[in-house]
Amino acid sequence: MAYKCKNCGYTSVEWLGRCPKCGDWDSFRQKESEEDSGSEALVDESPKPLSEISFDSKKRIPTGIGEFDRVLGGGLIPGSVTLLGGDPGIGKSTILLQAATNIAKRGKVLYISGEESSKQLKMRAERLNLTADDLIIYSGQSLENAISHLHDLDPLCVVVDSIQSLQRPGNSSSLGSTKQVRELGREFTRLAKKKEIATILIGHITKSGDFSGPKTIEHLVDSTIYFEGKRDKNVRLMRPTKNRFGSTRLLGLFQMTEQGLQEILNPSQFFAKKNGHSTQKGTTTVCTVEGTRPILVEIQALVTPSNSGGSAQRRTTGLDYNRTSLLFAVIQKQLGINLQEFDIYLNVVGGFRVEETAADLGIVSAILSSFQDRKIGSQTVIIGEVGLSGEVRPVKNLKSRVNEAEKLGYMKALIPESHEKSNDLATNLDLQPVGNLADVTTELELR
Ligand code: TYD
Ligand code: MG
Repeated sequence: MAYKCKNCGYTSVEWLGRCPKCGDWDSFRQKESEEDSGSEALVDESPKPLSEISFDSKKRIPTGIGEFDRVLGGGLIPGSVTLLGGDPGIGKSTILLQAATNIAKRGKVLYISGEESSKQLKMRAERLNLTADDLIIYSGQSLENAISHLHDLDPLCVVVDSIQSLQRPGNSSSLGSTKQVRELGREFTRLAKKKEIATILIGHITKSGDFSGPKTIEHLVDSTIYFEGKRDKNVRLMRPTKNRFGSTRLLGLFQMTEQGLQEILNPSQFFAKKNGHSTQKGTTTVCTVEGTRPILVEIQALVTPSNSGGSAQRRTTGLDYNRTSLLFAVIQKQLGINLQEFDIYLNVVGGFRVEETAADLGIVSAILSSFQDRKIGSQTVIIGEVGLSGEVRPVKNLKSRVNEAEKLGYMKALIPESHEKSNDLATNLDLQPVGNLADVTTELELR
């Protein structure tokens, strides 16, 4: 921490009552953090040609959790800083305790816990059946002590749980304040680079969704990963928004269970419930692409006559409300079906959230299936965006969607007509190109 004269800008490592340069009294203030930047955290090196800089990609440290490693781009890089952000209670401590015990099989891991006592961590570890001799727990809130333990241990990896719960003793700004978070972020980043420690910082997102404190250190860290999901549902998504060592077009999927977080290895099977699958009215299967990953997901619709007298109910879970409103309007206008006196409930099975417009056609089909009280064949996947005039529009990554459906044993796919000519889909699926909503109702016998 440095001090700066507010009058002449003279800086000093300690606070001074009188500036030796301009002679002003009581002019020293703590240097403000606007001066922090990503580069400040770097170790100063002498310039060298790019060709002479070596980097060993084998040095990555796997967390031992496949989905986590995938999102990281193959594991943690020594000296890198990763920020794991998410709502309180979502499972950040759980996943990092699991990862930390795995990493501790390769070297020392320091787990700095500013929120839970070492006994609480032990209890959790026992419940999850995790053991590791080289996992060292420091429970406390002092940044100074944490850093001194870090120097003593010289670990391979350090976990800071959380960035909002440590403090420099005697520091006037409050615990978890933006200023504190920044200072901690800078301190751990500097240490990570200097000592080549793979560092993971946990940051809580506030309820309103802004990442206020932790957000301000995003520019400092090498990777930012969000851990998301609804607390009452057990699905968790790991989504990188920044990654200096890998792609951000990746997604990790987990399920919170009694045994901690478990990877969802076959998401399509998980979300589309292939075995025992949709033969109900109002149910369809769509294929959404998350990052680079096609995932089959089941959509359910329930359309019932409204008895709320004038204001029919519209409820959606896991879908964009505005998008579904638009689809209701298109159905009404283009198919001449009056939905005004019907309550409509839409749901994505398994707690997944579908944002893609490629699911439009599946949503419309589920609504029509429930409205007409007719089933859609359980072996059919429905792919397509719906335009305002009821036309079925092309989607990206059609090939990977179709392949995923085939892999999961589906027999038939409705696809946008405009794709048919491309003919490079190389699939055994029975492809049914559709051009507009009227084609769809014919094809699915929903008239
Ligand atoms: P936690 O990792 O403490 O969340 P965070 O660190 O993000 O605040 O997760 C806490 C929740 O997870 C808690 O509500 C209980 C639940 N949980 C399980 O369902 N199964 C488990 O095995 C564990 C350890 C926690
Ligand atoms: Mg926690």
